[in-house]
Amino acid sequence: ANAITRIPVAVHYTTSSASLATATSGTNLSLRNCLIALAQTQINILNADYNATNADLNLWTNSQTGSSQFFPGVGIGDMDIQFEIATQNHPLGSGLAEGQPAVTFGYNFGAGQNRDANWTGYFNIVVRSLSGGILGFSPLGPPLNGFGVTIDNNYFSSGTGCSGTGSGSVIPTAPFNRGRTLTHEFGHFFNLDHTFDGCDGANCASSGDSVCDTPQTDTETYECPAADATFSTCTGEQVLTMNYMDYVDDACMYMFTTGQATRMTAWLNTVRSQIRP
Ligand code: ARG
Ligand code: ZN
Ligand code: CA
Repeated sequence: ANAITRIPVAVHYTTSSASLATATSGTNLSLRNCLIALAQTQINILNADYNATNADLNLWTNSQTGSSQFFPGVGIGDMDIQFEIATQNHPLGSGLAEGQPAVTFGYNFGAGQNRDANWTGYFNIVVRSLSGGILGFSPLGPPLNGFGVTIDNNYFSSGTGCSGTGSGSVIPTAPFNRGRTLTHEFGHFFNLDHTFDGCDGANCASSGDSVCDTPQTDTETYECPAADATFSTCTGEQVLTMNYMDYVDDACMYMFTTGQATRMTAWLNTVRSQIRP
């Protein structure tokens, strides 16, 4: 294994009441504690998924051969990274209290968009209410000057969630209630395209998703097909629907490939020097 890279994360609950930040008792204190614990649950899911320690990876591995019986040539990606809720302020001054977790309440991050200059150097997560059935979105391999992934209140983290007052509630909702929307969005943040980004053509390294060990196709997959039941529109071969960069349900995606991990690490190396404590 390689050295672990620390990923300092800040979580912004934009639709929560700002008064949660200073609450010392009562409902607001318990809601703040609930939301901080919910953020930690999401961080734990990201760490499992990006380090291939997720329990449902047993769906992939054939106990006889140690690799997939359906995709024998495909290896599992392992990033050797550690997502952590940051506890140190950065030089530009975010208002984060030194030593306190980087979790904000009612802060209108980037006026609702996915960039806020005050949060440079962090891997930001913006939790807000999205319309039109969008679960989340992310820039593709951005610089670290304040960009973040954005996720709807109902698809952040896992478990029973935190009921607040009205729009402040954050309730993981099936079938996207295992925190995998953020696994997917951080894949984009780390410069991955969708696995269904088109036919690879002559050069798999520069067309389709530009990753050679993900089977090419140009159609996304939904819900939860059997592992060997979906076929490429380009080649007729089986598609890797269980990959985090497809559109299946949370319970049915459980792996990155080694080629995806290599591409993500290459992007990480371009921003490494900008990462703030
Ligand atoms: N549709 C979203 C996107 O393209 C996210 C899909 C996440 N899928 C999931 N099972 N959580 O970024
Ligand atoms: Zn996507
Ligand atoms: Ca590919």
